[in-house]
Amino acid sequence: MPTPLHSDSSLSAQARDILIKNDRGGYTVPTQGLYPYQWNWDSAFVALGFAAFDRQRAWAELESLFQGQWTNGMVPHILFRVNDPGYFPGPDMWQCDPRKTGSAMPTSGITQPPVAASCVRELWELDGCSPEHPKLRALFPKLMAYTRWYRRFRDPLGNGLAMVVHNWETGRDNNPEWDGPLAAVDTSSVGPYTRRDTSHVNAAMRPTKQEYDRYVALLEFGRARGWDPQAIAQENPFRVLDVGITMMLLRADRDLLVLAHALGEQEAVAELQACIARAEQGIDMLWDESVGGFSSYDLRHDQPVSILSSASFLSFYAGVGSERQRAVQLEQLQRLGQSCRYLLPSLAPGSRTYDPMRYWRGPVWLVVSYMVAKGLREAGHHEWSHRIQEDSRQMIRESGFYESFSPETGQGTGGPDFSWTAAMWLHWCGT
Ligand code: DGY
Repeated sequence: MPTPLHSDSSLSAQARDILIKNDRGGYTVPTQGLYPYQWNWDSAFVALGFAAFDRQRAWAELESLFQGQWTNGMVPHILFRVNDPGYFPGPDMWQCDPRKTGSAMPTSGITQPPVAASCVRELWELDGCSPEHPKLRALFPKLMAYTRWYRRFRDPLGNGLAMVVHNWETGRDNNPEWDGPLAAVDTSSVGPYTRRDTSHVNAAMRPTKQEYDRYVALLEFGRARGWDPQAIAQENPFRVLDVGITMMLLRADRDLLVLAHALGEQEAVAELQACIARAEQGIDMLWDESVGGFSSYDLRHDQPVSILSSASFLSFYAGVGSERQRAVQLEQLQRLGQSCRYLLPSLAPGSRTYDPMRYWRGPVWLVVSYMVAKGLREAGHHEWSHRIQEDSRQMIRESGFYESFSPETGQGTGGPDFSWTAAMWLHWCGT
């Protein structure tokens, strides 16, 4: 095993420095250069990192995220507080007018995994669980509006499974789960554009040009419909029930339920209980016997996607799965643990499209590892939870705070000095 570059205490100091350096004044960019704005799920996880040394700043991160919330309840995936020509596609591409959306600044027109409620619960618990917590009281209705938006516009079957209309919404941008559904997206109207991501990091670690054309085509589709959520939900050429968001939304609703009880919000309690019950009943639609796990579903073509990814294991975090399904998932985890040095790869080594360096086609992402490990621990699978945590620690010790890591060598992939990796060290895997 290579000698760690730094001691754990100096890593904690470095992690704090990264968050402070990436702080743009009340909101944090994921990393300098590659991602120069505020991203939805990044911000929520970053709040957990700040909580380790500055509780006020942690709440401020979530409060600032909700400044971007649309009147209809959606929290966008990017908040454009400044105009940075170093990123594509920026506000001029998305054309989401705050006068129409109700957000405090221009934003993107799509959302991202709704982990904010779960992170708010964690902050509230760190603060001692007071039912009078003013910051919780102020955020609670906004969190409810966000989950209602998902139920209203993104639960087309009424069974609690969450639909996405852009692969960027999943946060797992180029996972092969989206390859089949994306292949049907027409790119003939996409004009010339200049990518910026590949000028910041090695192109071999980013999506391909063909994939990017499809991402842009989907953006242009939503923009042409004025970002009307109803029209997009019905007509979009990419409509997928995402196993990742479905599990994170169910978990968010469970966490919101705890908060609703604490606040004495009886109507919200009943509403959330109904949402949770629906999702618990609906979840079997995502169980795919052929892959031995939960997997996404292509609604447009009415067929399962049939790919096991790291998101499949979020079932533990969501608290779902029969005894047998859980046993099968654990067998899969065992196989993964044998096929690579570091858990949890975003795609199983040996899969046809596996690439240990390319974004979500193999690399380990610590935020997913964190959620999966948390779910496994809660379900009593302490050894697995510990292994995932230890592997995460080791990769940071050897490589630093990269965006993601090769599951084979632990080498950093993507951008350096990454906020959510620093946050995961401070909140979860640092010692
Ligand atoms: C990007 O630009 O790659 C982002 O992941 C989109 O959210």
